[in-house]
Amino acid sequence: MTTHKVAVIGGDGVGPEVTEQALGVLTATTEAFGFGVELTDFDLGGDRYLRTGDVLPDEDLVALADHDAILLGAVGTPEVPPGVLERGLLLRIRFEFDQYINLRPVKLYDGVPTPIAGLIPEQCDMIIIRENTEGMYVGAGGILRRGTAQETAVQESINTRFGAERALRFSFELARGRDGRLTLCHKTNVLNHAGDLWMRTAQEVAADFADVTLDYVHVDAACLYLVDSPDRFDVVVTDNLFGDIITDLGAAIQGGMGMAASGNIDPEKRRPSMFEPVHGSAPDIAGNGWANPVAAILSLAMCLDHLGEADAAQAVTSAAVSVLPELKTMGGPDMGMSTAQIGDLIASRVGG
Ligand code: NAD
Ligand code: IPM
Ligand code: MN
Repeated sequence: MTTHKVAVIGGDGVGPEVTEQALGVLTATTEAFGFGVELTDFDLGGDRYLRTGDVLPDEDLVALADHDAILLGAVGTPEVPPGVLERGLLLRIRFEFDQYINLRPVKLYDGVPTPIAGLIPEQCDMIIIRENTEGMYVGAGGILRRGTAQETAVQESINTRFGAERALRFSFELARGRDGRLTLCHKTNVLNHAGDLWMRTAQEVAADFADVTLDYVHVDAACLYLVDSPDRFDVVVTDNLFGDIITDLGAAIQGGMGMAASGNIDPEKRRPSMFEPVHGSAPDIAGNGWANPVAAILSLAMCLDHLGEADAAQAVTSAAVSVLPELKTMGGPDMGMSTAQIGDLIASRVGG
């Protein structure tokens, strides 16, 4: 029997609440599909930081590296200054493990209310690939004359051909296996340096993928099209910050943050990939049982797929999708079921 070593970081706010449900589903899945998991819980996030001052000690990073995958809930809490946990924990893992692809499906499922009037599932089924190790997220820059009247903040976007090319090649490959359509989303009309590098690289890589049509949209127009004609997108590749922003918009059109799953992936599997809902710790609803665990459970399905358990991944997705029409809303006080009830129902359906 194959046994996968999975590290678990529940994190903050609703993070542990939705992760607990994903783990319940995972347990049901291992029983139904006959593989094993060895779970290691990592006490990381706001509580640990406030208690000890630790964000992500090197020993924890080394211990995380000894796993096949990581399941993460969410990090960030109003009690800790912005960036401490987000940069020091989440981004550090993405960077140190070189998880250079952030795979974010945007798919509207049957029975899920969308704010876009008239939108039907057939018109909303895309994958957004967010370059995950460069751009504004590198943290390059600094503050000069901090605290004085002349203070100057510089925040630089780092773009390498290597980084753009590997994200683009992955995206072309993915597009080849789907509809043969890839859209590059950037802001070449203003970001003349980074946009130029991305565009030239995309055109060069396109020469190796004659069966894929390369399209281009500016990121502002992408926001328009995501709302008024999402069917024009199938696979979208974009820079780190643009990808962050447009995938929250994508979450909205697919029914809300409780629906949006993601994987931070190292396609070469040199180090563990990390799977997490797109949403954050949602401090506004934490502790109430109102968080929708479906995003975390669909992220688990992506994790199982990455681990080579394709049938189990499919079963988890199908079980999750089957409960959606039974929910009244996709998160919040009027869902009609609690976080735990949804998780239990999905777990009960995983075996078929
Ligand atoms: P958020 O995603 O936590 O919340 C945005 C909105 O979506 C809120 O109204 C929230 O109630 C709702 N929401 C989120 N998850 C939901 C779920 N599962 N079910 C139903 N509704 C849900 O974003 P925010 O409020 O901007 O950020 C809160 C904190 O989370 C911040 O500290 C931020 O830095 C952090 N954050 C972390 C991650 C991550 O760990 N991957 C991602 C985004 C934000
Ligand atoms: C996300 C989050 C993170 C990001 C933050 C918490 C660092 O918003 O995963 O979308 O910006 O990548
Ligand atoms: Mn985000």
